Amino acid sequence: MKIGIPAETHPGERRVAASPAAVERYVKLGFEVLLEDGAGNGASFPNSAYEAAGARVVEGDEAFAADVVLKVRAPRRGDGFDEVQRLREGGTLISFVFPAQNEELLGALRERGVTTLAVDMIPRITRAQKMDALSSTANIAGYRAVVEASNEFGSFFTGQFTAAGKVPPAKVLVIGAGVAGLAAIGAARGLGAIVRAFDTRESVRDQIKSLGGEFLTVEIEESGEGGGGYAKTMSKEFIEAEMALFREQAKDVDIVVSTALIPGKRAPILWTRDMVEAMRPGSVVVDLAAEQGGNCELTVPGERAVSDNGVVVLGYTDLASRMANVASDLYGTNLFHLLDELGGAEGWNMDRDNEVLRSALVTDAGEITWPPPPLPEPSPAPAKPSPAPAAPAAAPAAPAAPAAKPAASSGHGSHSAPAGSGNFSPFSIGLMVVLAALWVGLRLRGGESGLSQTTTEFLQHLTVFVLACFVGWQVIWSVTPALHTPLMSVTNAISGIIVVGGLVLAVQTAGTAATWIGAIAVLFATINIVGGFQVTRRMLRMFRK
Ligand code: NAI
Repeated sequence: MKIGIPAETHPGERRVAASPAAVERYVKLGFEVLLEDGAGNGASFPNSAYEAAGARVVEGDEAFAADVVLKVRAPRRGDGFDEVQRLREGGTLISFVFPAQNEELLGALRERGVTTLAVDMIPRITRAQKMDALSSTANIAGYRAVVEASNEFGSFFTGQFTAAGKVPPAKVLVIGAGVAGLAAIGAARGLGAIVRAFDTRESVRDQIKSLGGEFLTVEIEESGEGGGGYAKTMSKEFIEAEMALFREQAKDVDIVVSTALIPGKRAPILWTRDMVEAMRPGSVVVDLAAEQGGNCELTVPGERAVSDNGVVVLGYTDLASRMANVASDLYGTNLFHLLDELGGAEGWNMDRDNEVLRSALVTDAGEITWPPPPLPEPSPAPAKPSPAPAAPAAAPAAPAAPAAKPAASSGHGSHSAPAGSGNFSPFSIGLMVVLAALWVGLRLRGGESGLSQTTTEFLQHLTVFVLACFVGWQVIWSVTPALHTPLMSVTNAISGIIVVGGLVLAVQTAGTAATWIGAIAVLFATINIVGGFQVTRRMLRMFRK
């Protein structure tokens, strides 16, 4: 099966659909890779690097005529270009498409019989994060927005005390704390600026704070959650309160990075002409939403504009392309995971029951499949006997249940392991049942067994101890690594209970061996709790950097 990587022809586009490192991974998936001559030049990847990675450099239409064509931008049409006609009839295209804004293109792809996967339609679910090209791109754009702002801004970002005088730190306001907004907050904080951010979704408050930003709020309480990490349109009253807040901020901030977006809609205008006029000369507005009409009233998409009072308004729509090398590498990695999801060259399967593929598939076999039809109602599954002792294992896995569900239905082995439940072998289940039965037997009939009360009690405790060790072991090994953090929270909670139990035991049995056992239990549980917090802190530090 051949993969074609043509050169991008959109004016100013420097990215390419794969870096040489990504090509190497495509080859490992069993694909033969054809790269259009010089396709990687704009991203500083020479032909020779691709050849070393296993690609064949081709000319003319050969890359376009491959079985699967990987592109960054949607096929170009107009201005003497018709890239849809260069695609092989019945072939597959994987690229950004933005179907809501490109209906004509969808029609042309359908007529050509092309199967199209729009990477911008990949759902923002946990399982699909590694394929989420929209997030990779927005992350780069958010970072680059701050770099562009610093290039225009005539002062330091960080405050300075020098012999020649004091310079205050720059104040940055980020509107919309989605992927791009959070990246902008991180970059601006990294440069030392004071960062404030506003978003309609309350759920981003902690993320903003963990990056060192201040979360601004309005009096009106209204949830902006639109599902899947995206926003919904807010009421008129909310937008008015938000604008009043921005009017106040306009007098104070030096730089505004706006990223507010509601999927499939024109970007809301949130930074009006009078706000730009209230800013100090030399201030900068970077409007990432320029391509969707812009958040700022003065934005000219793709251009640098300057207001009458000397505020620079950047409406660049190619921020990711300005970092073409890393953008191509990350995009190529996203595509690798998508190709893997499709089964690679050997097991290629455009499975419409797979939530990720179903959402991204916009044309298929002569029909337009966007928006994706709803999944058929699941038929009531025959009740599977679920062993009672397995129940504790399900608890830590609960937070990931929605993400794990489509994975189970995708049918690809490497992704289909359900998160932490139902993996107990018949032997483990049998052993747990025997131990539980032993405990019940000792509890009910212990007195008739001829054993002393102390021995009976000891055996009961021992049974619970062995059972707890065994269930704990099984739970840890059955939970997927991605869920180890929530699992750690659960074990911390259990350790808390152990501390209380140990203290009660130590106090009640003062001076006996049980006192020491209680004390040791308190010690180990405390080590576990402190260790858990240390690990969490280290992880959080990694995100702050
Ligand atoms: P996202 O959907 O993750 O984030 C948008 C955020 O805006 C959400 O957190 C949402 O809650 C917030 N929002 C919506 N309405 C709001 C309002 N009225 N006030 C405050 N916040 C509001 O989107 P993502 O991926 O972060 O992208 C952000 C923007 O950046 C998009 O417009 C995208 O097209 C653009 N972008 C631009 C690039 C460029 O080169 N200019 C490159 C990549 C992305």
